[in-house]
Amino acid sequence: MKYFFNTFLVFFIGIQIVFSQVRTVQELDINWKFQKGENPEAFQQNFDDSKWETVTVPHDWAIYGPFDKEVDKQTVAIVQNGEEIASEKTGRTGALPHIGTAWYRNKFSVPQYEKGKKVTLLFEGAMSEPQVYLNGKKVGEWAFGYSYFYFDISEEIKEGENTLAVEVSNKEFASRWYPGAGLYRKVSVIVKNKESINQWGTTITTPIINDEMAKVTVKTEVSGEDTHLVTTIYNAEGIQVAEDKTSTQFGNEFVQNIKVNTPNRWSPENPYLYTAKTQLFVGETLKDVVTTRFGIREIKFEANKGFSLNGEVRKFKGVCLHHDLGPLGTAVNKAALRRQLTILKDMGADAIRSSHNMPSLEQLELCDEMGFMFLAESFDEWAVPKVENGYNRFFSAYAEKDVVNLVRATKNHPSIVMWSSGNEVPDQWGTAGVKRAKWLQDIFHREDPTRPVTVGMDQVKATMESGFGALLDVPGLNYRVHLYEEAYEKFPQGFILGSETASTVSSRGIYKFPVVKEKMKQYDDFQSSSYDLEACSWSNVPDEDFVLQDDKPWVIGEFVWTGFDYLGEPTPYDESWPSRSSYFGINDLAGLPKDRYYLYRSRWNTTDETLHVLPHWNWEGREGETTPVFVYTNYNSAELFVNGKSMGIQEKNNSTPQNRYRLMWMDVKYEPGILKVVAFDDNGKSVAEKEVKTAGKPYQIVLNPDRKVIKADGKDLSYITVSVVDKNGIECPTATNQLKFKVSGNGTYRAACNGDATSLELFHLPTMKLFSGKLVVTVQSNTEFGDVYLKVTGKGLKSASLKLSSIKL
Ligand code: GAL
Repeated sequence: MKYFFNTFLVFFIGIQIVFSQVRTVQELDINWKFQKGENPEAFQQNFDDSKWETVTVPHDWAIYGPFDKEVDKQTVAIVQNGEEIASEKTGRTGALPHIGTAWYRNKFSVPQYEKGKKVTLLFEGAMSEPQVYLNGKKVGEWAFGYSYFYFDISEEIKEGENTLAVEVSNKEFASRWYPGAGLYRKVSVIVKNKESINQWGTTITTPIINDEMAKVTVKTEVSGEDTHLVTTIYNAEGIQVAEDKTSTQFGNEFVQNIKVNTPNRWSPENPYLYTAKTQLFVGETLKDVVTTRFGIREIKFEANKGFSLNGEVRKFKGVCLHHDLGPLGTAVNKAALRRQLTILKDMGADAIRSSHNMPSLEQLELCDEMGFMFLAESFDEWAVPKVENGYNRFFSAYAEKDVVNLVRATKNHPSIVMWSSGNEVPDQWGTAGVKRAKWLQDIFHREDPTRPVTVGMDQVKATMESGFGALLDVPGLNYRVHLYEEAYEKFPQGFILGSETASTVSSRGIYKFPVVKEKMKQYDDFQSSSYDLEACSWSNVPDEDFVLQDDKPWVIGEFVWTGFDYLGEPTPYDESWPSRSSYFGINDLAGLPKDRYYLYRSRWNTTDETLHVLPHWNWEGREGETTPVFVYTNYNSAELFVNGKSMGIQEKNNSTPQNRYRLMWMDVKYEPGILKVVAFDDNGKSVAEKEVKTAGKPYQIVLNPDRKVIKADGKDLSYITVSVVDKNGIECPTATNQLKFKVSGNGTYRAACNGDATSLELFHLPTMKLFSGKLVVTVQSNTEFGDVYLKVTGKGLKSASLKLSSIKL
């Protein structure tokens, strides 16, 4: 259990120092009791849960499997994908056992509790339909699994031990992807004085910004009489830069307008954060303290100019992300999220869309710190269903509350530059849907007048006719590259956002021949080709979006579907068991880059060199056969050599979208040996080269950790890429060896993942097969600091060991 105390110092005539505690935030993370199944007695305070499993929260009960075809077998037509006839679908929600009811119970006591305190129980998400009981009494419920929500439990809390019991249940046919299951985000108890700052009661905006100064407006909603407020602003170095004191209240709100000189503006390239410390007093007595990080930055969306940040026009280089963390499931983990963002940063991405629901607060904190703009989305469904038991069941009762909580909980994050009220909602058809779009947008505006609202639209023609698209602040098009021009003409905003783009499919390290552009292409091994030419009937390959992004000044950027593979939605293999995770990712489910990563990197990362060659060069049996070679690079031309023989120079050109963004040698005949590419700058000077060599037999295991030093907090992670090399140290790109993992010392084995969308091996078991020569092992710290050892073995292979250090906080 973790406590955060907001303490302060009171100086009494310079002699005595008194520490006083005004607010505690207690995360309920350890010693939860958990059991799957209905249990009519489990809400009771004295219920015996001693035989239940002990778990930590955040927790995802379903990620431990097993994968089972029956879990999400459905005979449906996915109307969204243009299907008209129902067929048997499997793996749609990841084939993991997330359906059903489960209970969580936690015994906790509140430190230094006194009657009269205000106590709030805060959930940052609970999957789903949580029913919450404290000391045997129901204190509240929610519906949507992605929402943040809280209850006032001041009346029910008591001194000493309290028992919290939470029932969560997931219906079948409730999701289009793996939703996870259980208390997968933080639960905390906040204890404060009667006179205090309300939950999510601080709102910071920066209405005026120039080089000399910024006007920072801090609105603070409070409870209690005769209070006054002091807000102090600190810069990122912790130095006080401004302070304001006020006792003038407007209703229950204080409004302070504070001048910050020479503001350091937040941007993806300069994620500079200020902190506001707001102290609430009654007389001389401090009653509450809240600290809020914020950024000073200006966003504008203007006709014919597009989007600008701090006065500079730029286009979103974004990716969509589902909330699962691959082998860790949906249990939120900051180290796992940080790793995702580190990978995306290297690719040059500067924006994230939380498709199709509320992001974790951890993800937003990281985006603020690491520099990513954020499109925060609320719903995948409104009143008209996509899936039988989806959000449509809750829309009328909950939509407003869910949007309000989304905005109130996250509005101070400078990373958020736009809201989305929905994704491809079937309500795009008909006037009722137009009204819903306006109603939701108005709620966003009421709660946050500073950011615009979009909807990811796929029924572009319908929304042109109905007024749906015209009323949005930002018209977002999902795919439909052929309709951009028309939408730009018809819609009155003067710009178009690629709210969802590409949906190209590929499997890491898998290449298919002949190399041709295809839609919904299927192969016997249920993999998709990494030549990056395969998409779905509704979607396209990346280059087609690049053309629009580069040629149309009124296109304000794109959010690629998706940054990482996710559990569920195994299109184009929705009907092919055992496919159980997506093929859409730029990175695979393990977080390993697919070739496409380098295609995006070659245009998005404008500071580092990209020179990537595909395919691998281990094609025994294809000798003499046509084996095209592609190069993804930021250079405009390059020469390719096979075993020293030139295959000619290729130069990017405008003949096709592919020729504009890739260098392609379509007629190369395979012969084992060395593939070498030499890149030229625009003066024809050779500036970089890369080789790909044919590997021999797998000989030795190689371990490559992303971090060698982790924190001993029981949560931090190191991701170790495991590969095998031949006797000469050349990576074996087709190896499929079964490997075993052993972690000892002050850490634990957490999971492994190889990125194979058809693998039924369980992530948490310490063995897995390599897929295309690689997999990733995740090692977690425990709360003791010291060394952590990983040993990886495989039959017939030289094993490998690694030492990590887990350090004190
Ligand atoms: C979109 C949808 C996404 C995902 C994607 C796959 O239409 O918004 O959630 O299903 O298609 O291509």
